[in-house]
Amino acid sequence: MHPSARDNSRHCPAGAGQGTLQGMRADVLRVFALVAFLGLGSTATAQHQAPARAGAAQHKPDHMAHTFSDADKYAREFDDPSRDAWQMPSRVIEALDLKAGQSVADIGAGTGYFSTRLARAAAAPMVFAVDIEPNMVAHLKMRVAKEGLKNITPVQATADGPNLPEPVDTILLVDTFHHIPNRVEYFRTLKASIKPGGRLAIIDFRRDAPAGPPVEFRFTADQISAELAEAGYALASSHDFLPRQLFLVYRAK
Ligand SMILES: C[S@@+](CC[C@H](N)C(=O)[O-])C[C@H]1O[C@@H](n2cnc3c(N)ncnc32)[C@H](O)[C@@H]1O
Repeated sequence: MHPSARDNSRHCPAGAGQGTLQGMRADVLRVFALVAFLGLGSTATAQHQAPARAGAAQHKPDHMAHTFSDADKYAREFDDPSRDAWQMPSRVIEALDLKAGQSVADIGAGTGYFSTRLARAAAAPMVFAVDIEPNMVAHLKMRVAKEGLKNITPVQATADGPNLPEPVDTILLVDTFHHIPNRVEYFRTLKASIKPGGRLAIIDFRRDAPAGPPVEFRFTADQISAELAEAGYALASSHDFLPRQLFLVYRAK
């Protein structure tokens, strides 16, 4: 039961509620009679509906708002071994072609599916596992300690940016681009977190993928590139091997 429903039943005795209801019904009937008499019914309805339709169009969200607070639940989903078949993490990391001594930030790291694999890659880069959800960052800290991964630093992000302690060579976002609001502004600011010559890699769901976010939050390569061009990036390369996702790599212009 919703807490507010419980409060009502506790604070509103039945008898008092019924008396008030009868009074309200009489008031409502009097108002209906007055509206019918004045011939205002259809005008009042039209005036009520018009702003609602305009408001709905104006507030079409640019991102998928979603809370990832239940880290244990998402660990079962994100780290399900069956994901490897279509996520192809080894091929993704091979395509990123990281060099020894380089650093990478996994923004929207979640439970660490990519961060832990990046840390174990041959180049052993310094990995910043960044997430906006405090429970995910706590989960990442526990995982990093449990798996003894010395080259991963979990980082608490804010809505404005990743809070990286220093610029990195590569920034990776997997299934996170569509969760970020005000993206042009976000990615424009993010350029300061990328070293000169560094890259921004976006992996996100294709429109025809058999699973993923609602279709309005699945962007085409052209839509992503247009937003990032406005933010000051140019497409450097794209990889077509992921069956469910786009894999696009950008450089600052
Ligand atoms: C769908 S999950 C993907 C997790 C991970 N990249 C993976 O592939 O398993 C999206 C993650 O992005 C995080 N997130 C959403 N908005 C964010 C933001 N502005 N900055 C950092 N993390 C964000 C969420 O908390 C969530 O953990």
